[in-house]
Amino acid sequence: MKRPYVLIVSEVTIDGKLTLAKGVSSKEIMKLMDEEANRYLHRIRAECDGIMVGANTVRIDNPNLTVRYVEGENPVRVIPTSTGDIPLDANVLNTEVAPTVIAVSEKAPPDRIKAIEEKGAKVIVAGKERVDFVRLLERLYEMGMKKLMVEGGSKVNWELIKNDLVDEIRLIHLPVVVGGDDVPSLTSGEGFGSLEKVKRFKIKRIFQCGNQVITEYERE
Ligand SMILES: NC(=O)c1ccc[n+]([C@@H]2O[C@H](COP(=O)([O-])OP(=O)(O)OC[C@H]3O[C@@H](n4cnc5c(N)ncnc54)[C@H](OP(=O)(O)O)[C@@H]3O)[C@@H](O)[C@H]2O)c1
Repeated sequence: MKRPYVLIVSEVTIDGKLTLAKGVSSKEIMKLMDEEANRYLHRIRAECDGIMVGANTVRIDNPNLTVRYVEGENPVRVIPTSTGDIPLDANVLNTEVAPTVIAVSEKAPPDRIKAIEEKGAKVIVAGKERVDFVRLLERLYEMGMKKLMVEGGSKVNWELIKNDLVDEIRLIHLPVVVGGDDVPSLTSGEGFGSLEKVKRFKIKRIFQCGNQVITEYERE
C-alpha cells in the first residue's frame, strides 16, 4: 500500500491521559508544556506535509494546527468526520491560514460537503459509514503527502494503530497525574486483549526536553 509515513505525536500525563477530563479541551493541560516542548512539537509540524486530528478534537479543542513556535510552513490539515459534523467557523476551516482536507464517509449529506467546500477546504469521500483510513491515506499519498503527523485524539489514534497504519509514536510526557476512569488516554477502542495481538513498538530515542521527558518509538 502506498501511504504517507505516519507519526503519532501526543502530549500525555504520567498516567497516559490526553486531557484533564472527558470533553475538556487539551489546551488546558497543554498550558503545562514549556517553550522547549512547544518548539519540539512545532518543529515536527514543520517537517510534515500533513497533520491530522479527529473531528471530536476539532469540536472540543478548536485547534489551529499551524506552525508557530519555530519557522516553517504549515502542513495540510486533515480532519476525519463521518458526516462532516464540524462547526463551519472552526479554526481548521480558516483556509487562508493553511490548506485543509476534510475526510468524510458516504453518509455525509451533499449540502454539508458543499458548505465545507465553500470554506475553501478539499473534501475526500472515503468509507461507507465512517472514514476508511486505509483509503484516506492512499488518497493523501496520491496528493503528494509523504509524511503525516497525527495529533489525536484517542479514537483516531486507536483506529490507525489497529489498522497497522502507524510507523512511529512520539510522546511528550507532562509530569502530572490527572486520574479519572473516563478521561481519554492515548488510545481508546475495544483493545487488543491478548499479547499475540498487541502492536509492538521499539524505543528509538528518549531524552529530556525542558521539564518534559520525550519518548520516541518505532514499529517493530
Ligand atoms: N493531549 C493531546 O495531545 C491531545 C491531542 C488531541 C486531542 N486531545 C483530546 O482528545 C479528546 C478527543 O478525543 P476523542 O477520542 O474523543 O476523539 P477524536 O479521536 O479526536 O475524534 C474522533 C472522531 O473522528 C471521526 N472519525 C471518522 N472516522 C473515524 C474512524 N474510522 N475512526 C475513528 N474516528 C473517526 C469521528 O467523528 P464524527 O463523529 O464526526 O464522525 C469520531 O467521533 C479531547 O478531549 C481532546 O482535548 C488531546
